[in-house]
Amino acid sequence: MSAPHPFAGRTLAVISDLNRQERLYLYQRARELKEALQRNDRDVVDQFRINDGDFGMYEVFLEDSTRTRESFKNAAHFHRVKFSEFNAASSSFNKSESYADTFANLIGYQNRVFVIRSKLEGVCRHLEEQTRRYRRRHHLPWPVSFINAGDGRHEHPTQELLDEFTFLEDLKWSPGEIHLALVGDLYHGRTVHSKVHGLGLFRSVRVDLVAPPELSMPRHYVQEMQDLGFAVREFASIEEYLRHDGEVAQQWYFTRPQLERMGERVLQRQDELRRAITFDPSQQHRLPAGTTFYHPLPRHREHPTIPAALDDTPLNGWERQSANGWVVRIVLLAMLGGKIGDDYSGPVGAEVAEPRECLEPQPLRSTQGKHYSEGIRPIDDGLVIDHICAGDTPEEIRSHLATLISVMALHGSGGEWVSTGGDSGYKGILFRPRFAAPSEATLRKLAAVVPGATVNVIAHGEVQQKIRLLSPDRIEDLPELICRNAMCITHPDNGEQLLPRFLRRNGVGSGGVGGGGGRGAGSGTREGYYCQYCSTYHTFREIWR
Ligand code: NCD
Repeated sequence: MSAPHPFAGRTLAVISDLNRQERLYLYQRARELKEALQRNDRDVVDQFRINDGDFGMYEVFLEDSTRTRESFKNAAHFHRVKFSEFNAASSSFNKSESYADTFANLIGYQNRVFVIRSKLEGVCRHLEEQTRRYRRRHHLPWPVSFINAGDGRHEHPTQELLDEFTFLEDLKWSPGEIHLALVGDLYHGRTVHSKVHGLGLFRSVRVDLVAPPELSMPRHYVQEMQDLGFAVREFASIEEYLRHDGEVAQQWYFTRPQLERMGERVLQRQDELRRAITFDPSQQHRLPAGTTFYHPLPRHREHPTIPAALDDTPLNGWERQSANGWVVRIVLLAMLGGKIGDDYSGPVGAEVAEPRECLEPQPLRSTQGKHYSEGIRPIDDGLVIDHICAGDTPEEIRSHLATLISVMALHGSGGEWVSTGGDSGYKGILFRPRFAAPSEATLRKLAAVVPGATVNVIAHGEVQQKIRLLSPDRIEDLPELICRNAMCITHPDNGEQLLPRFLRRNGVGSGGVGGGGGRGAGSGTREGYYCQYCSTYHTFREIWR
């Protein structure tokens, strides 16, 4: 049997769903296509076409769009495939139908690629998972891809693809180094959020963030960029950036103030905030030679952050960038549609680290003399969970003991309390006499709830088994979990009946690298977690209802 096609049926929910080498392959092919289009080389151009009237592609836009929607539509026409647009305004979404049910229908009609823009975040990841089950139920032979065309404030991976392609084009196709200024609404702008993992395409990255504090990049994204080894600097305005002593970037990426996502308080100050991130043509002579401006567009017609007076200057990289969107999306569709990519020989899929084992058996020292006692009576048989939330405050420990008992159904006789635990301050202890030794599955679940704790299995008055619980890479499948982002597809208010899944920061699949960091990292309750759907960062305590 031949190897499966490396790209057919893949989903692009976030930029890191395509690893660095896969993206470099995409850019190489897009360059070939762009050049062939320029010299009108029909033979080469035709090699990119899916050219199959039964190949269904659907656009589902639940938020406004011009470039993304139209460039995908034009890319579909290029491919000569069956193209449909979903009319969300008059659909059964209005009868409270779920995303899962809505898309299950469309998949059934032999559609293979869905391009989705939504206000809710994490929709494509959710649909990818649902579709895996649907295809299994119905033995569907055709693979199905979901392409995120922008989900709320989260990511816009195809914009990131065309941005990276354009940066590369201007860097003579070298992915060696980039020095980029990100200017504008970095708080709400999903195109700049995709840059956090997207810019890892370059071996050496310097990023200057230019935004007033109200519009600044969320802290956890800044932290992630630093973890990835980027040199990051922050400035509150273009003026402050141009005035500082250091080097100014040659590549500037502007974003529009996203008024529709701002709260009332920030909106009231929009004029002042806009001034800080609007380029004044009189500042041109202060730019380094060869500077290029980019913008995902749209520009506000009355208050553009790149004034129209600059359209005819060499600063204008944004028009070519926008036109590149069509070419890059043609190539992406050709890859996900299985038309090209057979010659790709690099690693396939998102980069994931080796998972970390979360159960660490401890040597049993002679337990003579060391007996766990339940109050004044030594416990003969049962379970003792020690070092719970070690180092946290007594209130935090008490509240988490309640979560532990409810999640693990540890109701019953015995006791639990907060005690002082030597160097680490306070800790929680829980005793359950006559409780059976936990199974491995139960231990793994326990590791998710009380990472850092130690489980002691006691029989005949002796500790038979002692296991230290480490923070797992994934915490999932527990009804007590909640993602705090109200726009996340998993949030209970959005009614999709879906539980969040959390990935440990710096763990498998979180996209981050680097080594933990921070006070007590790895000790359990101080680890941070990302929601796998919307990438929102949570402290350990925040992931519990
Ligand atoms: C962006 C978007 O929708 O995120 N536009 C685009 O897709 N080219 C940027 C924006 O809306 O400001």
